[in-house]
Amino acid sequence: MAQRIDGRAVADDVIASVKAGAASLAESSGVIPGIAVVIVGEDPASQVYVASKSRMAKECGFHSVQHTLPEDTAEDDLVALVETLNADASIHGILVQLPLPDHVDDGRIIQTIVPEKDVDGFHFINVGKLVTGETDSAFVPCTPEGSMLMIRRVLGDDLSGLSAVVVGRSNIVGKPMAHLLLAANCTVTIAHSRTKDLPALARTADILVAAVGRPEMVRGDWVKPGATVIDVGINRIDAPERGEGKTRLVGDVAYAEAEAVAGAITPVPGGVGPMTIAMLMANTLTSACRSAEVAPPKY
Ligand code: GUN
Repeated sequence: MAQRIDGRAVADDVIASVKAGAASLAESSGVIPGIAVVIVGEDPASQVYVASKSRMAKECGFHSVQHTLPEDTAEDDLVALVETLNADASIHGILVQLPLPDHVDDGRIIQTIVPEKDVDGFHFINVGKLVTGETDSAFVPCTPEGSMLMIRRVLGDDLSGLSAVVVGRSNIVGKPMAHLLLAANCTVTIAHSRTKDLPALARTADILVAAVGRPEMVRGDWVKPGATVIDVGINRIDAPERGEGKTRLVGDVAYAEAEAVAGAITPVPGGVGPMTIAMLMANTLTSACRSAEVAPPKY
């Protein structure tokens, strides 16, 4: 039976370091980390994520502002808001919750955020720094960064020569995850919907990361015995066994099957999810430390 990787416990550790780091930054330089979260429209899932980001920022002792804009907000108005936040010295991290409404060009908005405040790590400058190994001055996207921290908690800091398969090639998770694993000297394969014989490829992985958004797609017989399995998926599915109209959350991995084969595995919920918010706080503190020319904590 696999070790269950407790994302809440690892996230609590990160948050404890962030709180201590924020307190010491305030004492040494008077700087309070500031985060601005921008949400456009009424998407209920996004509202829940954004509320928990703002709540956690306050708990960390940050200056936290939230801008909630109507669905029909014009793209130019959103650009203007981001430019105002770029120029606001009390704000060190800017997060524009995605997806944005269809009439807004996500790319234009993301590239308007100055790279120094792009705590999501989505700006081309931060993507380029990750790919070229300039991670000391980059921001790395929070979900892969948090996934990496959990992998290191299980396998230690030396991942050299391990075989890693990342299922999913999104800009938010799959691609940055693959680059982090490559930077850690893993042999990395990115798999996707066109990959041939995905189960056989997945079975070669010492580290298997599932980030496709398909409920329970990765089956137990896709997992190499003893592998470390990171499940990035958060899918809400019908759960008639819990009563009429009820739903439940599942990952991209069939947990019960995979748990019987893996060495370690993240559950859903309680795995990668809490880490994403924790790393957003960590990135915001890092940004504030850089602005004050103080060394940021390591996680
Ligand atoms: N929507 C889903 N995940 C994310 C994320 O990590 N950052 C932003 N900005 N939007 C998201």
